[in-house]
Amino acid sequence: MSYIKLENLRKVYNKTIEAVKRFDLEIDKGEFIVFLGPSGCGKSTTMRMIAGLETVTGGDIFIDGESIINLEPRDRGISMIFQSYAVWPHMTVFDNVAYALKLRKLPKEQIKKIVDEVAVICDIKEHLERYPSQLSGGQRQRVAVARAIAVKPKLFLMDEPLSNLDAKLRVSMRTDLKRIHQDLGSTSIFVTHDQSEALSLADRIVVMNQGVIEQIGTPNEIYHTPESMFVAQFIGSPPANFFDVTVLVKGDKVMLSAKSFEFSVKKELEKKLKEYDGKQIVLAARPENFTVDKTGLIETEIIIVEPQGSHIVINVEVDGKEIKVVTDKLDLQVGQKIKLGLTDKYIVFDKDTTNRIY
Ligand SMILES: Nc1ncnc2c1ncn2[C@@H]1O[C@H](COP(=O)(O)OP(=O)(O)OP(=O)(O)O)[C@@H](O)[C@H]1O
Ligand SMILES: [Mg+2]
Repeated sequence: MSYIKLENLRKVYNKTIEAVKRFDLEIDKGEFIVFLGPSGCGKSTTMRMIAGLETVTGGDIFIDGESIINLEPRDRGISMIFQSYAVWPHMTVFDNVAYALKLRKLPKEQIKKIVDEVAVICDIKEHLERYPSQLSGGQRQRVAVARAIAVKPKLFLMDEPLSNLDAKLRVSMRTDLKRIHQDLGSTSIFVTHDQSEALSLADRIVVMNQGVIEQIGTPNEIYHTPESMFVAQFIGSPPANFFDVTVLVKGDKVMLSAKSFEFSVKKELEKKLKEYDGKQIVLAARPENFTVDKTGLIETEIIIVEPQGSHIVINVEVDGKEIKVVTDKLDLQVGQKIKLGLTDKYIVFDKDTTNRIY
């Protein structure tokens, strides 16, 4: 039996807005789950239903086999932090972290012990006597985390907790969060629409789109074997490149033919693609799935070069549209003619269903 179970969850606001159409997910104890998806896809609504801040229209939520949907938020054993710093400005850091413990009427010494423990984990031990206004954004967010974990929640929910921080702090805070999670072994759900945050934090990512789950998988599965074009598009920066290609079966060989290039497919794909003979499918190649060398089959010219330090991103025109290619050939110049090859990492999608063929 899984630790957390979300079963056929559904939310309709005002009888008309179907924010979450169907949501099924099982979470193991200690897992770090990330909900990822574009604005308005239902991430916060799902979180708020779990926390009890929003009623459910349909479905059920179980923790340890027990339904919690009829419990008050405070009785669910769930801590939640939001995008805005959820710390009280008029209380010291110590009092912020201790607040919920005091409500539970724990003995003073025990409260101090717990606050000290989580303060070490969250690296705010030196600031316990300060007020939130005397802290940086990252420190304040760590206080919010400390307060949330102090009560040892069964489930820890975070809804875009890093989005108020500047880019650099965001990246270092996410490492901190991952460390805190590993130290505590807590079960967490984290919401973001930042794909790189999702990839770096999650044990498993739940990709959502318009109120439904598009795919559930590990970061590697989501990145390398996206089940739909939506997921392939949403994950990866720069994003994957898509080409309309026609499948041509020529004897034993299966070719993919675009306007400006044609090649025979990898062995594993031959059988699957035979039934598509003469049809159009979609070829997806990530920027790093290309090679730049003389043997390449696509001739093109470099339009833009964007240095990234360890590698460069080049824009080139292929099949009448501009695509992005990542390469470590740092000396490439604008205007240079190059030949692009394709590694075996590409994937193909059914054009009608937009689902992955292989
Ligand atoms: N209280 C509400 N009443 C009516 N509609 C709502 C309410 N809250 C959210 N919605 C609608 O439900 C849908 C899902 O909203 P939700 O806040 O869950 O999205 P989200 O994935 O968290 O988006 P974001 O990334 O922008 O935070 C949206 O269409 C939104 O307009
Ligand atoms: Mg939201």
